[in-house]
This record gives sequence, C-alpha cells and structure tokens, in this order.
Amino acid sequence: MQLTAESVKKSLSRVQDPDLKKDLVTLGMIQGIHIEGNKVSFKVVLTTPACPLKEVIKNNCIEALEQDHGTDWTWDIFMTSQVTTIRDAGPILPEVKNIIAIASGKGGVGKSTTAVNLAVALAQLGAKVGLVDADISGPSVPTMFNVEGEQPTVKKVGEKNIIVPILQYGVKLMSIGFLTPTDSAVVWRGPMASSALRQFIVDVEWGELDYLLIDLPPGTSDIHLTMVQTVPVTGAVIVTTPQKVALADANKGLSMFRQPQINVPILGVVENMAYFTPEELPENKYYIFGKEGGKKLAEKYEVPFLGEIPIIQSIRESGDTGYPAVLKTGPTKDAYMDLAESVARQVAIRNASVEKTSVVEVKA
Ligand SMILES: Nc1ncnc2c1ncn2[C@@H]1O[C@H](COP(=O)(O)OP(=O)(O)OP(=O)(O)O)[C@@H](O)[C@H]1O
Ligand SMILES: [Mg+2]
Repeated sequence: MQLTAESVKKSLSRVQDPDLKKDLVTLGMIQGIHIEGNKVSFKVVLTTPACPLKEVIKNNCIEALEQDHGTDWTWDIFMTSQVTTIRDAGPILPEVKNIIAIASGKGGVGKSTTAVNLAVALAQLGAKVGLVDADISGPSVPTMFNVEGEQPTVKKVGEKNIIVPILQYGVKLMSIGFLTPTDSAVVWRGPMASSALRQFIVDVEWGELDYLLIDLPPGTSDIHLTMVQTVPVTGAVIVTTPQKVALADANKGLSMFRQPQINVPILGVVENMAYFTPEELPENKYYIFGKEGGKKLAEKYEVPFLGEIPIIQSIRESGDTGYPAVLKTGPTKDAYMDLAESVARQVAIRNASVEKTSVVEVKA
C-alpha cells in the first residue's frame, strides 16, 4: 500500500482508545500527519494528562501502521494531551473545562483532604487546576494549603469586581476563609451563603482551567443546590469511609446528585481511610473498619470505584501543617496520583459519552 496521509489515517482508524471505545481518528486524536523521506510524524492528542495508557496506545499505532506499510518507516509519534470538555462556552466560567464536586453524606470523612490532594495531584500530572472551598461555615482549604491569612486581590473589570485567586502548589484557590478572620464567628446562612458561594465561583479570575474542584460541606444542604444552579457541574466524586454509618450517608449523598432536579453524574466513589498502614511497613494493611465498603457502594449504584486511600498519620499532619501529603514521595503520594488518574479518566469517559451539562433551571 502506498503511504500517504490518508493511508496513515486509515491504518490508525483501527486503533481504539481502550477507555473511550472509539478509534483515534473518529475521536479526532490524530493531528499533523507529516511525511518526509521515510519518516512519518504525527501527534496523538489524548484526553487525560499523563494518560496511563499512553504507551499501549502508541504501540498499537505502530503495530497498525506496520501491518499496512511494513517496517521500513520511522514512526515519529508525539503523544500529547488536551483535556476535553462538553460545556458550551457560555457566560459562566467559559474557560473552565470541567467542574468537579467533591461530596459526601457524612461530615469528617475526608472530603477536604481528598479534594486538596486530588487538586495538587492533577496539577502534578500537568493539568490546570482550581479549587473552591465551598464550606462556608468551616473552611479548611487555607490551612491545608498553608495560605491562612492571605488576602486575594480584587480587580475591577469593566463594572465588575473580579477576585484574583491565591496560587499555591500549582493550584488556584478560593475560600471564604480568605475573606473572614480565622477566629471570627461569621455564620453564613441561607441566601447570603448561596450568594457568597456564587461569587466565589463565578466572579473569580480563574483563567483557563482543565479542572475546577469544588470541596463541598457535608450533607445535602442548600449549598449543594446553589452549586448546581450556579454552574454546570461535570460530575461528582463521592468520598466515604468504610464504616456502616458513613456508607449509609454516602448513599444519601449519591442519591442527592441523582435527583431529577439536580441530575449531576457521579464520576465515582473514593474510599478514604480504607485501611490502616504503618508508614514504615506499607505492605501491611489492616482493614479495621471493614473491607471494600466503598467498592460495594459503587457496585450498588453502578458507578466507578475510583480508589482507596489509607489512614495514615502523616496525611492528617500534612493537612494540619499545610503541606499536602501528595507532595512527599512514597506510597501515599502514589495512592493520590492513582486517584487523580482515575478521576481524569472518568471525566474523559463521561465527556466522550454523555450529553452536555447544563445549569439546572429553577422555576420561581
Ligand atoms: N486518609 C487519612 N488519613 C489520616 N487522616 C485523615 C485522612 N483523611 C482525612 N484525615 C483527617 O481527618 C480529619 C477530617 O478530614 P477532612 O477535614 O478532610 O474531612 P471533611 O470530610 O472535609 O470534613 P467536613 O465534613 O467537616 O468538611 C482531618 O483531621 C484530616 O486530617
Ligand atoms: Mg471539609
């Protein structure tokens, strides 16, 4: 077969993305085919940063090309990525590709810890990441990022005041904690809380983001409703711990997102504090609260299981000292990096398969 850009495309149309279950040409992933002498170069644009399937896909490309064109060619394949979006570039956060809510039913299961480490992990994979601390009454993001007491600046853009987020560990941050003194007893309630939250998400100079994470308060309150009424949420990550009580509440959290008037897809379940492991003996795992509760919950709701995070003293200490555990090399970092890959993958799968997200219409 004569080798042309068209014949290269034809060969590559037999290579599937294993997650998205479509071929690379149909997915628009093959770009810039260039033939010079016996060298054929092109780009494969994957949909997740640092895709774990990168090598497999590259090898499958070479295999398909060699089947049709033999082995006399040099294949110069540049593997790159561009996070996908299914959002319309509407007036709200037009440059934010994916909005991910981190939720649970029960309080204290580690939503904020998970959100913080996940945000940093995604940034380490090369993504552009923002994090909103939507816990109006007990913001914890400023402490967990060691930026307590910092004050975001406000810019005037036209008639509007725009807040410039705080940048730390490669993540753009917004929290009501930046705007109120740490020990103040400001209690935000009802409509005021909702309008404050709206401002923290919408009137912020996020710039271009691949993922904007929203760390929600516990439970199923007004705040949750405000959020889906304010921004088109790509999906929710549900955090649970293995105990029965936490799992029962996680059920409620999951059901909330599935209510017809909310209708936010679930990207998956994370089991936090899944097992205890002594830091010096990471291969010893003690499932003190029971095993695989999160996995079973995911199975029950037919949603992906995103991973297990162990209970480790240094995760707690890292949160308290403002230096997220994922920044230190070791098994904890690996667990969070794996989680970030799973989440990015589920976002890509959702974007390739589901209809566009929209803001929930609220009837007056
Ligand atoms: N995997 C873990 N290992 C050890 N400690 C953890 C782990 N996950 C969370 N923690 C600790 O548990 C406590 C509660 O975690 P966190 O604040 O993240 O929970 P939360 O679900 O956000 O709580 P809230 O519902 O109040 O917002 C914190 O002290 C945190 O450091
Ligand atoms: Mg929290």
